[in-house]
Amino acid sequence: MAVIADRCPQVQVTVVDLNQARIDAWNADDLSRLPVYEPGLDAVVARARGRNLTFSTEVEASIAAADMVFISVNTPTKTKGLGAGQASDLRWVEACARTVAEAATGHTIVVEKSTLPVRTAAAIQTILSAAQDAGSERSFSVLSNPEFLAEGTAIADLEAPDRVLIGGDDPEAINALAGIYGNWVATERILRTNLWSSELSKLTANAFLAQRISSINSIAAFCEASGADVREVARAIGTDSRIGSKFLSAGPGFGGSCFQKDILNLVYLCRHFGLPEVADYWESVVRLNTWQQHRIARLVVEKLFGTVTGKRLAVLGFAFKANTNDTREAPAIRVCADLLEEGAHLQIHDPKVDAAQMARDLKRDASEVADSNGSWCRSESIEASVAGADAVLIMTEWGQYRTLDWDALASRMRRPAWVFDARAVTDSQQVRAAGLNLWKVGDGEG
Ligand code: UGA
Repeated sequence: MAVIADRCPQVQVTVVDLNQARIDAWNADDLSRLPVYEPGLDAVVARARGRNLTFSTEVEASIAAADMVFISVNTPTKTKGLGAGQASDLRWVEACARTVAEAATGHTIVVEKSTLPVRTAAAIQTILSAAQDAGSERSFSVLSNPEFLAEGTAIADLEAPDRVLIGGDDPEAINALAGIYGNWVATERILRTNLWSSELSKLTANAFLAQRISSINSIAAFCEASGADVREVARAIGTDSRIGSKFLSAGPGFGGSCFQKDILNLVYLCRHFGLPEVADYWESVVRLNTWQQHRIARLVVEKLFGTVTGKRLAVLGFAFKANTNDTREAPAIRVCADLLEEGAHLQIHDPKVDAAQMARDLKRDASEVADSNGSWCRSESIEASVAGADAVLIMTEWGQYRTLDWDALASRMRRPAWVFDARAVTDSQQVRAAGLNLWKVGDGEG
């Protein structure tokens, strides 16, 4: 919404949320403390806020004044009830649709921005038309407009999208939304489909991207076993223009709020529609991802003489990828949980994730003292995190981890010491020259 406001000064954008504290944070003077860390977002907000971008808790009044309402609430995987563990929890989407149905005036275009199961638009339409039938002057059009931005590069992705997808059956509503994007996106990049194709395209795009990561991670394990190097394999296959070179970095498995959730949702829908083979196929992408994370934790224990109980391990990176403070489904969480279970003391460093978030994710409080039941603390610096450690485990590809002074770090560690590079960001020669043992994901020569 900030980018729309920035690119369309003639459009008034109001972002509403029930959570006063969050809205206050978006309105705060200090732009370095916005609730979401995203490179370039502060500058966009600085340009538009107070001009045509407003953050408010006045939900009903803002809906009443709006010509177009974007539903952008979370749709997490259900934790209980029908479809638990796979289906999306749509309670907030439904609540939004009901609020819009009550508060809207005149003709309102309702845009599904949240990633939703296929045919959710039908539920939104039904709720809205119930309000319409009440003899009011109000009318609604529902559009699907899924978002394809990736975290860490969100602003660049929004400013120069590969495509904008608009699904719907009301040509006027589609034109209105296309007109907004048309302020900065070339017409040929604005794709129009029916509602269901648009909803399904979003799930499919994420499923294909995640599948590439599981594919390369499966080959990474094979490379380690066979003496090949997954980066050489990725380069070799990536030059085939049909395969392409992007999204072929082996690592500790995908994290983030979307890939797992969207695939599980796809799996659930396939089962629902009587397609168990298709469901199994996509479910294996998630299974391989989980396996990769447990595999890394297991490998650390094995290399450290079969036990990490009471040992200090430095964990570099906790966010699910670089340039974000987001830890949702971060591979570091599962790997750390396994190592805590084995009794390790983890000294975790991340430039953007704070200790309170780590405590929520690890489901236990920090402690400076090693405890044989497993313990962890957040280290302010990389040097502090490696102090007295038997191993360094690199979980996120932050730029600063690419240029570490391994001689200096090695001198602070207990020997024999290991580096487990799950992101392949280190220079193998430098690590080994510092007298450290090295495991690098997908490197069969190590
Ligand atoms: C992903 C998609 O890339 C976006 O197009 C989509 O809009 C978004 O989900 C969403 O549905 O909201 P995001 O989760 O922000 O974006 O980040 P990605 O860059 O896709 O990375 C996801 C995970 O895959 C990260 O843990 C990353 O480290 C990992 N990854 C990515 C790899 O392990 N290897 C790669 O080659 C690429």
